[in-house]
Amino acid sequence: MAKNLYIKTYGCQMNVYDSDRMADVLAPLGYTPSGNVDDADMVIINTCHIRERASEKVFSELGRLRRWKEQQQGLGRDVRIAVAGCVAQAEGEEISRRAPWVDVVVGPQAYHRLPELVSRTDPASRNAVIDTDFPVEDKFDFLPEEHTPRGPAAFLSVQEGCDKFCTFCVVPYTRGAEFSRPAASILTEASRLVASGTVELTLLGQNVNAWRGEAPDGGQWNFARLLSALAEISGLERIRYTTSHPTDMDDDLIMAHADIPQLMPYLHLPVQSGSDRILEAMNRRHSRDDYRRIIDRLRKARPDMALSGDFIVGFPGETDRDFADTINLIAEIEYASVYSFKYSPRPGTPAAGIDDQVDDQVKSDRLASLQQVTDSQQFAFNMQKVGSIMDVLVERPANRAGQRAGRSPWMQAVHFPEQSGEIGAIIPLRITAAHQKSLSGEPL
Ligand code: 5AD
Ligand code: SF4
Repeated sequence: MAKNLYIKTYGCQMNVYDSDRMADVLAPLGYTPSGNVDDADMVIINTCHIRERASEKVFSELGRLRRWKEQQQGLGRDVRIAVAGCVAQAEGEEISRRAPWVDVVVGPQAYHRLPELVSRTDPASRNAVIDTDFPVEDKFDFLPEEHTPRGPAAFLSVQEGCDKFCTFCVVPYTRGAEFSRPAASILTEASRLVASGTVELTLLGQNVNAWRGEAPDGGQWNFARLLSALAEISGLERIRYTTSHPTDMDDDLIMAHADIPQLMPYLHLPVQSGSDRILEAMNRRHSRDDYRRIIDRLRKARPDMALSGDFIVGFPGETDRDFADTINLIAEIEYASVYSFKYSPRPGTPAAGIDDQVDDQVKSDRLASLQQVTDSQQFAFNMQKVGSIMDVLVERPANRAGQRAGRSPWMQAVHFPEQSGEIGAIIPLRITAAHQKSLSGEPL
């Protein structure tokens, strides 16, 4: 029987990928993704635990879903609620206890088992079916093929988990140890996506550039070698990868940016702070200078390389002077885009136990002054492109009638008249205007 599946996704791109894969897993059971919660037979919330008040947000969402479930049951409909993702992993028991109307709790490494978990649910039970194992089997061996095409720009998960243990971060606890998917499995999925119309792939991993995997011939490949194998797939025009750690930016990978034309000239390379003292306390395993040198070499390999980064302000013990070092590092690098956050103590992480927490008002002030700098860098970067001609991937209709939206090689959103090109095409556009977060273009 046809059933509707509504998935609400929070957090990172890997959650977006996982949500699509959960839909694939449930397709054989008759579930079709739907954009509407009201006619859903099952709702999955795919949660994120990385920052502020993650679990409170989940519980208030679950409060709304409780009323939804009661209404639906009042109408005689048999509906299910599942919680997936990193909050599910970290707080599975707590979710089942505080929200007994939840039917399934499934962690990021176990969702290939969803059909079985769903079959074990019982509307009369006040306990969720919980699976937060880090199973010995590789979930990718059990995931079915994509049920619906992913579109011109798609994600592909190649690496999961993290062994770096930055002292502020929950990822090593919720996503588990570093795991690299074998190359053959990645190449098969990539070819399938390309055959279904994908032209741009973003390889995903918490530490994607730490990928070291089994080669198709049974040997070992590093990440640069995987990239060159992907570049041989005909029809795959653009390759990106995220998120990378500076210490895994090895020589081969830097050279790949010179050698592989499909690799886009834009890299997300978080550094978190510009102060060596704070980098040390964060257990980042590199200095400010190491980071600067990597960026210099990347720009030498690929002169039009643009950078984006993540920064945390108000890490425990951060002084005005440490913060000034962050600002002057940002000034030196000149980012195309920056994501910045107030430090938020995550339960169970080492930094959460440090006494010297920074006052919230100080964090807010630092965040605001950092964002003033990074917003102006972003605008300046966009302005540099005005008047130039660039290849843009046509992705979708824009919100404004008669317009389409696409992506520049540097991840900028570009808006242009719809007659410029079909969705999925890569077309040359002349850039006519720059805005804070996007560009406007016209066909030549
Ligand atoms: N507090 C604030 N920001 C954090 N991040 C990760 N953990 C925390 C935390 N506890 C940020 C980092 C990371 C990004 C994904 O989220 O900048 O790179
Ligand atoms: Fe978290 Fe650090 Fe691992 Fe990134 S490298 S996922 S910030 S522990």
